[in-house]
Amino acid sequence: MSVLTSAEIQPHNGRLRLTWADGRVDELSPLWLLDNDPAFRHPRTNQRLRELRSLPTAPRLSSVALVDRGLALRWADDLPDTVYPVAWLDEHTPQTPRNGHRPWGAELQARLPAVAFDVLAFDHGQRQVLDDLHRLGWARVRGVPLESGQVLALARRFGFVRATNYGELFDVISKPEAEHLAYTGVELAVHTDNPYRDKVPGVQILHCLNCSRDGGGETVLVDGFAAVQALQARDPEAVRTLAELAVPFRYRDRDNDLRWTRPLVELGRDGRPVAVAFNDRSMAPLPFGAQDTERFYAAYRAFADIVHAPESEVRFLLEPGDAIIFDNQRVLHGRGAYDGRTGLRHLQGCYADRDAFDSRRRMLTGITTQGPAPYMPV
Ligand code: OGA
Ligand code: ZN
Repeated sequence: MSVLTSAEIQPHNGRLRLTWADGRVDELSPLWLLDNDPAFRHPRTNQRLRELRSLPTAPRLSSVALVDRGLALRWADDLPDTVYPVAWLDEHTPQTPRNGHRPWGAELQARLPAVAFDVLAFDHGQRQVLDDLHRLGWARVRGVPLESGQVLALARRFGFVRATNYGELFDVISKPEAEHLAYTGVELAVHTDNPYRDKVPGVQILHCLNCSRDGGGETVLVDGFAAVQALQARDPEAVRTLAELAVPFRYRDRDNDLRWTRPLVELGRDGRPVAVAFNDRSMAPLPFGAQDTERFYAAYRAFADIVHAPESEVRFLLEPGDAIIFDNQRVLHGRGAYDGRTGLRHLQGCYADRDAFDSRRRMLTGITTQGPAPYMPV
């Protein structure tokens, strides 16, 4: 936790200025402070008990003091005093630049994450998986029992399975008359799944029940956030183009016609990527005018060059009993070609929502118990 070294009200704009021992400086709006008064949170649920319209539009601070319980603020116009625990301010001041992601490229090949299935019986084993998923965008579990449906049991240890038109569970196995390229032996270039849905599945799990005898079908993973950051360094305009132009995606078969429109890159307010959608197979014809179309193609090509570069990827064979759990809006996945005629390679997959996985990680790491603090649901 950071140490607060000074707190003062700035005379020229009335904002509260906090200086921390690590050099960070926060400038806080009085209205933000009043709106987040811990006294107006329900003590058990932490939910906010007051709506914005009951607050003055321009509250004014009159004094600030460091007391035992934290930072005590006095207000003009007879507004009651408010107190904020320092740990809470440390965690919630808007500028705090932490997200815990660790971008990676081919160097990760030397130390691929792996957790043994047996340790998932313990909190520390589950936590390892969820930490890998959070930091790297993916985790690998080894030694998952070779039984159909284990992929669902794995998802349910951490959260909730998301059913789609493919069912709760889908088999990736080569079939005659396949309705999907995934169900043949062809190579699948790296991609994210299901960009044609309103809510893209946040987590995907693939469990290997059998692998191809020809040694093909190896798994390829790429960190989409690292790719966006590499493009940002090379050509920031290209990233802006990808974030600005929403692309139509579509999946159609005998029973479904799924369509959604989204940009390939979503950026947070700090300019860092928060979601990537990348799927050649399901991108529909671009609906832009010629100028935007050309701008898009140039940016997309520059992004694809990074995504498909050998320096960006890790590549390994999933062995029977291996499962990978990945953030489908960060990590792109693909596979090498294999001999689809034998029908031997068999993966089972499912989707899940990411919020429950994130929640479980916070519960296991004790992040939510830090300080007596109210927290802002976002
Ligand atoms: C898919 C897919 C991966 C694999 O079905 O979308 O990416 O390893 N499959 O077969
Ligand atoms: Zn896929």
